[in-house]
Amino acid sequence: MASILIKTAADIEKMRISCRLAAEVLDYIAPFVKAGVTTGELDRLCHEYMVNVQGTIPAPLNYCPPGYKPYPNATCISINDVICHGIPGGKILKNGDSLNIDITVIKDGYYGDTSRMYLVGEPSIQTRRLNQITYECMWIGISKVKPGAYLGDIGHAIQQYAEKSGFSVVREFCGHGIGKSFHEEPQVLHYGKPGTLAKLAPGMIFTIEPMINAGRREIREMGDGWTIRTKDRSLSMQWEHTVLVTETGYEVLTVSPDMPPPPEWIISGETPQGNPA
Ligand code: MF3
Ligand code: CO
Ligand code: CO
Repeated sequence: MASILIKTAADIEKMRISCRLAAEVLDYIAPFVKAGVTTGELDRLCHEYMVNVQGTIPAPLNYCPPGYKPYPNATCISINDVICHGIPGGKILKNGDSLNIDITVIKDGYYGDTSRMYLVGEPSIQTRRLNQITYECMWIGISKVKPGAYLGDIGHAIQQYAEKSGFSVVREFCGHGIGKSFHEEPQVLHYGKPGTLAKLAPGMIFTIEPMINAGRREIREMGDGWTIRTKDRSLSMQWEHTVLVTETGYEVLTVSPDMPPPPEWIISGETPQGNPA
């Protein structure tokens, strides 16, 4: 098993830059996300911004892990019952849709990876609730990050909160170490048991990116070789940050001027109401 790299101060400086740039793409695209636009157009706008404005490389484009075909676009855009790896194209956004835009850039050889949900027009109460719970799941996971804690603590807290809310956690995809490569050790599961798996140490950098389904957790793979949907066609959502383990806790690296603020209970240092953690 490959080991978890501990990043140097110089690595961390570069990661702050690549991660901030990834988050800034999500700021940039927000005003374009509305009914009538296609996901292909959103991808094109992000791609142009990355290459022409930021001087970053879109990491997904032609990304080809073993067993996959090269990914065809600069971004992943996953709508409604698409869990992840949605391929942008001719799909036109309509009122009530929910979509995840997942941005990974490369700057100076370092990767930054983050995704947010966007809700179109007037979303239903169910849509807003799944979005809020998924966002809180990500932050509950982040709040567990500190030296001496275990990866299993993160997964357990996310799973408890999602399932207590009546939702389910996707098992087939997970967060990941990131640095000079897109996906490295460790795997960051969004379910599990406290006190299990790797112990966290300062200088580790990984993503936390829970995928939460309104219905059952099972997935379905589409014929395009990438798109993943819920098997029961229920709504699925995801939020993602890249996080550094510091000497005392964590630093979220994928920060930008317009990023949604952490939940109030993070700011106040408490746990969310009813969070078993
Ligand atoms: N950005 C995704 C992640 O969070 C990975 C996308 S791989 C791609 O890990 F090829 F689909 F882009
Ligand atoms: Co991502
Ligand atoms: Co990721």
